[in-house]
Amino acid sequence: MSQSTIESVLQEKRLFNPPRDFSSRATIGSSQHYEELYQKASSNPEQFWAELAQQELHWFKPWDKILDWKPPFAQWFVNGKINITYNCLDRHLTTERRNKAALIWEGEPGDSRTLTYAQLHREVCQMANAMKQLGVCKGDRVGIYMPMIPEAAIAMLACARIGAPHTVVFGGFSAQALQDRLLDAEAKLVVTADSGYRKDKIVPLKAQVDRALADNGVPSVTNVLVVQRTKEKVSMEPGRDHWWHEVQPEMSGHCPAEPMDSEDMLFILYTSGTTGKPKGVVHTTGGYNLYTHMTTKWIFDLQETDVYWCTADVGWITGHSYIVYGPLSNGATSLMYEGVPRPSNPGCFWDIVEKYGVNIFYTAPTAIRAFIKMGEHLPKARDLSSLRLLGTVGEPINPSAWMWYHEVIGGGRCPIVDTWWQTETGGIMISPLPGVTPTKPGSATRPFPGIIVDVVDLDGNPVEDNEGGYLIIKHPWPSMMRTVHKDPDRFRRTYWEPISPRDNQHFYFAGDGAKRDEDGYYWVMGRVDDVINVSGHRLGTMEVESALVSHPAVAEAAVVGRPDEVKGEDIFAFVTLEGNYTGSESLVQELKQHVVQEIGAIARPGEIRFTDAMPKTRSGKIMRRLLRNLAAGEEIGGDTSTLEDRSVLDKLRS
Ligand code: PRX
Repeated sequence: MSQSTIESVLQEKRLFNPPRDFSSRATIGSSQHYEELYQKASSNPEQFWAELAQQELHWFKPWDKILDWKPPFAQWFVNGKINITYNCLDRHLTTERRNKAALIWEGEPGDSRTLTYAQLHREVCQMANAMKQLGVCKGDRVGIYMPMIPEAAIAMLACARIGAPHTVVFGGFSAQALQDRLLDAEAKLVVTADSGYRKDKIVPLKAQVDRALADNGVPSVTNVLVVQRTKEKVSMEPGRDHWWHEVQPEMSGHCPAEPMDSEDMLFILYTSGTTGKPKGVVHTTGGYNLYTHMTTKWIFDLQETDVYWCTADVGWITGHSYIVYGPLSNGATSLMYEGVPRPSNPGCFWDIVEKYGVNIFYTAPTAIRAFIKMGEHLPKARDLSSLRLLGTVGEPINPSAWMWYHEVIGGGRCPIVDTWWQTETGGIMISPLPGVTPTKPGSATRPFPGIIVDVVDLDGNPVEDNEGGYLIIKHPWPSMMRTVHKDPDRFRRTYWEPISPRDNQHFYFAGDGAKRDEDGYYWVMGRVDDVINVSGHRLGTMEVESALVSHPAVAEAAVVGRPDEVKGEDIFAFVTLEGNYTGSESLVQELKQHVVQEIGAIARPGEIRFTDAMPKTRSGKIMRRLLRNLAAGEEIGGDTSTLEDRSVLDKLRS
């Protein structure tokens, strides 16, 4: 967050009580109910989760033990047998939800589709059967590289149905990034589409898969299932590639849900960390099902007839937990949109709200800031009266964007849930419950019942209210990540060792800075590690640096985040060149394109500055703090006495 945003957040004093009308109809609508839940959950979290797991989910076999905690490794609902797709699909089929819309999908060119629970169940079973026929067995990993079309959700559910962990790779990632992830996951099958529509362009996907797999690039992949979306011409490799529309009619619409152990892996999702290599975050079945179910139910206050729309992409955790698993487990109607607002259709989001009568709308602060720029006339020209609840996720929301969202989109009547969480946490950790929690613009308010968080110093000592510190989680929770795929040591090092309390407690370090105010409200300030948040997308500075130095012209690269009005942060790269290269505008463009090719368009640096040398300490460490100051156009602050060569700074300034 920029200094001025932090200051405006810290001065924020406004308080918005939940509208009485909302509270009177909410699932959790009285402070008394909330406090009871909260107390019960804090005094015995295990018992709290166990009661909910029993009430809210279907288990093929009950568990023997609620929690097995061998820090930092947790197991929830030990020996319980469950299948998340049974909870998301089958159990609704014997109720009046059978013919209710499960997914409403709107394509970017304006085509649309609605799948009822019965239809979705059938298609999931068909794809699950196709996967089995292509040799996928329980435990095999499946890569999913898709546009935002129903088959993306269908593929995820099909995997879960047969117990094959999925790894969804965001469709905007490059062939190289896709290959890295498929290799690490040792995927056996890839599900993709010919291409997808995004910002009025046709984005090739199958061609990227071909590149990733070329020359035996991912030896474990034996088959590719291709959904036809745009009908663009693609090449199909006989024996390896199969069209879904040719396979589907042959497949039975019945496929029993495989009884999975509660701790069987449900998916791996790669996310950026502080090293060059993304981490495979592992989530398992039972605890994840329960936690995403409960958070969706209470935070979004789902009512039976609601149309719920989360604008994320299924390539990110938000899409996993709050487009697919959480809403479907609750029997909700979840809306999926293929596209994004674009110059040719800047009002498309509001058209969709009006067209489907969306009641609950969940998006990112970067999108809200982009809407503000596009102008109020766009939402004001549409009927948004169906909206009753708004949500945000992905980065801190600045109070002025919160107010705009509240007034212009919510018409002053919709509570806002600012939800703090991470890929690693699986579900929302800090958020208002909309019927009971008074909100303050810029604060995610209080932890979800059963979640015990604190703000501490590096030794794990709690800091005073209103003092900044590190956000930590003190007690295991059902949807916590279980490990880093194939690297349990990295899991321990990254999340459990940075904060080391003396008394043998174990604190999960989130990587975020935060403060708690006198009302017990949390204010998340942003990352304190080398991770930057560009338009709500998480990127490791080292990842971008590795991409830059893989170009022959680059000798050394240092990447920092620079505050950006719309994106939150933008990528600013300082680069030193190999001796036989000189900096030029065309080299800047070439390097930007190189990063796009290595990682994807989300990692394109906003600015690249050439320099003869980096500001380094005497021990050779790049002083990123100074680079951040330079990138933001700020005065160089703090101590510079450890700098090896002070003239480097003057050169960089000029
Ligand atoms: O820095 C926090 C920020 O996003 C990070 C997690 O990113 P990712 O794993 O990609 O998941 C994003 C969607 C859950 C966090 O460490 N973040 C997320 N939500 C908020 C937030 N920062 C402040 N307020 C939020 N509501």
